[in-house]
Amino acid sequence: MIRVNEHFLKLKAGYLFPEIARRVAAFAKTHPNASIIKLGIGDVTEPLPPAVCSAMEQAVREMARPETFRGYGPEQGYEFLRKAIAENDYQARGAQVSPDEIFISDGAKCDTGNLQEIFGLDIKVAVTDPVYPVYVDTNVMAGRTGPADASGRYSGIVYMPCTPENNFVPDLPKEPVDLIYLCYPNNPTGAVATREQLKKWVDYAIEHKAVILFDAAYEAFIQDESIPHSIYEIEGARKVAIESRSFSKTAGFTGVRCAFTVVPEELTAYTADGKPVALKPLWNRRHCTKFNGVSYITQRGAEAVYSPEGRRQIRQIISIYMKNADLMCRSLRRLGYSVYGGQNAPYVWLKTPKGMGSWEFFDLLLEKLHVVGTPGAGFGAAGEGFFRLSAFNHPQKVQEAMDRFASLQI
Ligand code: MLT
Repeated sequence: MIRVNEHFLKLKAGYLFPEIARRVAAFAKTHPNASIIKLGIGDVTEPLPPAVCSAMEQAVREMARPETFRGYGPEQGYEFLRKAIAENDYQARGAQVSPDEIFISDGAKCDTGNLQEIFGLDIKVAVTDPVYPVYVDTNVMAGRTGPADASGRYSGIVYMPCTPENNFVPDLPKEPVDLIYLCYPNNPTGAVATREQLKKWVDYAIEHKAVILFDAAYEAFIQDESIPHSIYEIEGARKVAIESRSFSKTAGFTGVRCAFTVVPEELTAYTADGKPVALKPLWNRRHCTKFNGVSYITQRGAEAVYSPEGRRQIRQIISIYMKNADLMCRSLRRLGYSVYGGQNAPYVWLKTPKGMGSWEFFDLLLEKLHVVGTPGAGFGAAGEGFFRLSAFNHPQKVQEAMDRFASLQI
């Protein structure tokens, strides 16, 4: 008798964003004239930068000629893109990362979901709460947890609360943990981690022989020069950290798909009898077995992100989103909301008014204002009573959403 992987049955409701989409579609069906403004899922609205489009067009032309056509590329990604990333994203900021430590992929969601496969099933996983649900759900699917309790927390996972009191950067755990997921600039709270805060985590990981999975998908939105863009700007991080990044939010690639993960040469984990094992060959083995690489056309587009025009165009796009975030923060504060994030990240995190539940506030905004956001509770128990607004939309829509907030009577 064929059997299912019963760990999947432990998963709570559907994945957060499809669930929101389902609720919004149901509302739109019964309110066909409502002009709905979506500030929910962090999906970009600005088109691809012209420099990226030209590079992709050129790559399409190469693919159309027998002498320049390419079939399978290297699973790890083309050297031209890995080199551009190593030089621009890392070496230029004083972080030592070489092209052969970079693995190009089709998304930071996929990478941060898949990376757990190279670790033992009996390790202790620690996540922030609230958290990007992918880190938790993939560990549930793999069987590293017990069932969820009434608040949605799975037994076997160490949840590290992120609250206004700790500026949404968790305190070190009281019990030893092995795999630590950190995301800064943070999704969903929009918080950033300082150099000193990251150093504490790196030191912790070195001392406890742990690994940090650092999700830096939103690093391009950092405005404050003192905030590190990469965990590798922190001394010792190469020994204990994997970093994932994405072109999705930086360069409008949510529909194009291109991201990368860095696994440094000296990073190790251990066998049950304490023998160190390098992680890069393990990830390489996993990547080559299960992935055939990102298309040549896409990788040429990603390479163009680092050209002088590409950089200029991307800065302009990011500034549109960050102006949206600023407008949201200022408008909501004026209306009396407690607002966090939005300064170095495209997400604004607010306390729901009058102690309302996150989903209750979601329903209220949808019904009364026709505005969609993301309930904080969807990111974990500590997100209850909070709400996330995404800055990814056209400025006039964001302005309109804020005008509608001003009319809200609670
Ligand atoms: C989000 O809204 O949290 C993100 O769009 C999710 C993602 O990037 O997968």
